[in-house]
Amino acid sequence: MPVNSRQQSTAIDLNPRDPEFYLNPYPHYDAMRACGPAVYWNDYGMWCFTGFAEVNRLLRDKRFGRQILHVATREELGLAVPNPDLEDFNAVEAHSLLELEPPAHTRLRTLVNRAFVSRQVEKLRPEIAALTHRTIDRFAADGHVELIKAFAEPIPVSVIARMLGVPQERCDDLLDWSHAMVRMYMFDADTNAVNAANTAARDFAACLRELIAERRKAPADDLISHMILSDRKGDRLSDDELISTSVLLLNAGHEATVHQTGNAVKAILENGLDHRKLFKDDASTAATIEEALRYDAPLHMFTRYALEDLDLETGITVRKGEQIGLMLGAANRDPKQFDHAASFMADRPGQANVTFGAGIHFCIGAPLARLELQVSLPILFERLPGLRLEGEPRYRDAYHFHGLERLDLAWLPA
Ligand code: HEM
Repeated sequence: MPVNSRQQSTAIDLNPRDPEFYLNPYPHYDAMRACGPAVYWNDYGMWCFTGFAEVNRLLRDKRFGRQILHVATREELGLAVPNPDLEDFNAVEAHSLLELEPPAHTRLRTLVNRAFVSRQVEKLRPEIAALTHRTIDRFAADGHVELIKAFAEPIPVSVIARMLGVPQERCDDLLDWSHAMVRMYMFDADTNAVNAANTAARDFAACLRELIAERRKAPADDLISHMILSDRKGDRLSDDELISTSVLLLNAGHEATVHQTGNAVKAILENGLDHRKLFKDDASTAATIEEALRYDAPLHMFTRYALEDLDLETGITVRKGEQIGLMLGAANRDPKQFDHAASFMADRPGQANVTFGAGIHFCIGAPLARLELQVSLPILFERLPGLRLEGEPRYRDAYHFHGLERLDLAWLPA
């Protein structure tokens, strides 16, 4: 990691597409953290924060936002005009909860939040268990499997589609659209990625528009119908808002969980841990999943705009409209916060991590993701005795997403 000096602080050159980095970013994070509270990452052109305390604090800091155009114009900030090739993609993003700030954010979040609170989500436990068994039934007799495609993907996709009321036969389309759209958030998206993301957003929106029209005529017991009918003092969601919110929930509702499933199974097997101890009872299972979320999270960086000129406590100055990077994957391995941070310790005291973020954009799906992992992983290990890795799993070239290309496993079939 080449290091040089910028404004009396540290600047680094580190290509996020270099396999040496994305296959194992943790030693690089340690080196960044050793430089101080933040490093200027030249490839991204922004200050990036790696310590747990700083990341946790900045995620909650109201002087930063996911959006900037509510406090300044593009012209004022010298920002590029939106790419016309991304018209359909940007139309979907325009009303996305994740891209809004209060009061628009509060309004939308309140409308959908109820469906995702723990006591509501907990009702899905038996259904997730049954789905996990059905999914394993398809390959249990084979003795080997590629886990990402056969197990990690179908479970969260099916659950979130069912919650929203999207027919199960559209799950493959959902996966294709989501993969294409997600590429836009990666470092250095090229023209092919731009075109594919825009086409996916257009087709996805068209599918949802049709579904919304059907549900308007005949509401069902699903989240899309619930969002259509939600009325806060006469304030209803427009079709565009319904589409953006549904796309976000469907995409966010599986992408990270798929990769957390793969990362957790890999971590347990690589560390030679005994699944009977890890998943001994509900409390041990919850602690194991929490440690898996900390140890190898699927989303490693989120950005924020400075909403004003700021001299931060850390001695770093940022101008209004500049972005900062909050390195969740690095924060989760901060030795100041976690003893033996590089070790998987399911019984670790004080498990608070930043895998689901913090502050007003804290992941709405955290209770659902936790439940899916807590239900599906113990069943997987119990049903496939002697589960082991076949070959060395490789992470995808998709930073800041951190998930496996494939996860080949073998076991002793009954
Ligand atoms: C292990 C799985 C998951 C991880 C690691 C994860 C992580 C995150 C993180 C870090 C954020 C905050 C982003 C920011 O602050 O800029 C977030 C937001 C969000 N997540 Fe998740 N997520 C997961 C699963 C889910 C699921 C299952 C859903 C399903 C509904 C979901 C829906 C959302 C939504 C809607 C937001 C935006 C919230 C807002 O802006 O108010 N996520 N997620």
